[in-house]
Amino acid sequence: MISNRPQQAAAASGANGSRPASEANKPILSVESLTVSFDGFTVLDELDFSIGYGEMRFLIGPNGAGKTTLIDVITGKSKPTRGRIVFDGTTDLSRRQEHHMVRLGVGRKFQTPSVYSSLTVYQNLEVMLGFRSRITGLLGKLRRNDGDRIVDTLEQVGLSHRSKDVAGGLSHGEKQWLEIGMLLVQEPKLLLLDEPVAGMTRRERDRTGELLQSIGGDRSILVVEHDMDFVRQFAQTVTVLHLGKVLSEGAMEDVQQDPEVIRAYLGNSRTQRPEAARLNGRREAEDPAPVADG
Ligand SMILES: Nc1ncnc2c1ncn2[C@@H]1O[C@H](COP(=O)(O)OP(=O)(O)O)[C@@H](O)[C@H]1O
Ligand SMILES: [Mg+2]
Repeated sequence: MISNRPQQAAAASGANGSRPASEANKPILSVESLTVSFDGFTVLDELDFSIGYGEMRFLIGPNGAGKTTLIDVITGKSKPTRGRIVFDGTTDLSRRQEHHMVRLGVGRKFQTPSVYSSLTVYQNLEVMLGFRSRITGLLGKLRRNDGDRIVDTLEQVGLSHRSKDVAGGLSHGEKQWLEIGMLLVQEPKLLLLDEPVAGMTRRERDRTGELLQSIGGDRSILVVEHDMDFVRQFAQTVTVLHLGKVLSEGAMEDVQQDPEVIRAYLGNSRTQRPEAARLNGRREAEDPAPVADG
């Protein structure tokens, strides 16, 4: 094992001089002894894990490790059997419902893009702002700045030139960026992204990595990712989840040499061998064809 020190890793990469002293070295998210079981089968096993303010953390691990379940529990979609999820100092997210997350400042992106196909790119962002205003009760206050916020967000996600186009006509990559934009206009403190580059071309993937780097700093990001080339290229701190526990944590170049990590990826099943190969930098295909999304 390389390390199992979430607190220290978070502090190292989440350091940000502009933050109040009270936030320095404190995690924005702290998962404590989190256990999730389905029908007696333990998916997350006394898991301890944390992310610093302004940090971008990558979460990897073999299929079935519990990555999506962890995001489900953080966002109130599933309830833990035991443990706490402390967010932003005080809130125990495990006691909150899924529909509270936007107001609390937690944004989640699922793997399949879900945009309003018949609305324009601009209107998609407008809908999300309206949604946030309604639930926070800030309708009047936000109205004045809505236009600016949408224009800024479009620029941030590289879709200014697509503003008036209907979302249904966007490429797979553009839809993913639009969906990231739809989260950004809601100003989350923590963004949770489940496999954001799945099905993307190499070029789209690189642009996504740059986008994530550019939106980090002001907010914390947890990226679950299977694409090891992408992780190698853009990750600073990587957490490896295996059998519902943190198996290893640290820099990708260290983590991918960890014998325990390699063993976990090899597993017993033939289907996991390509994953293990990718972990160590063997590339299968340079530019996979984009998958159709439903
Ligand atoms: N709602 C559920 N009911 C029963 N088992 C589940 C449920 N959700 C996930 N699991 C099981 O939990 C394990 C971890 O799943 P998941 O979190 O999706 O893994 P990952 O995202 O790391 O591939 C798997 O064995 C999966 O079958
Ligand atoms: Mg998953």
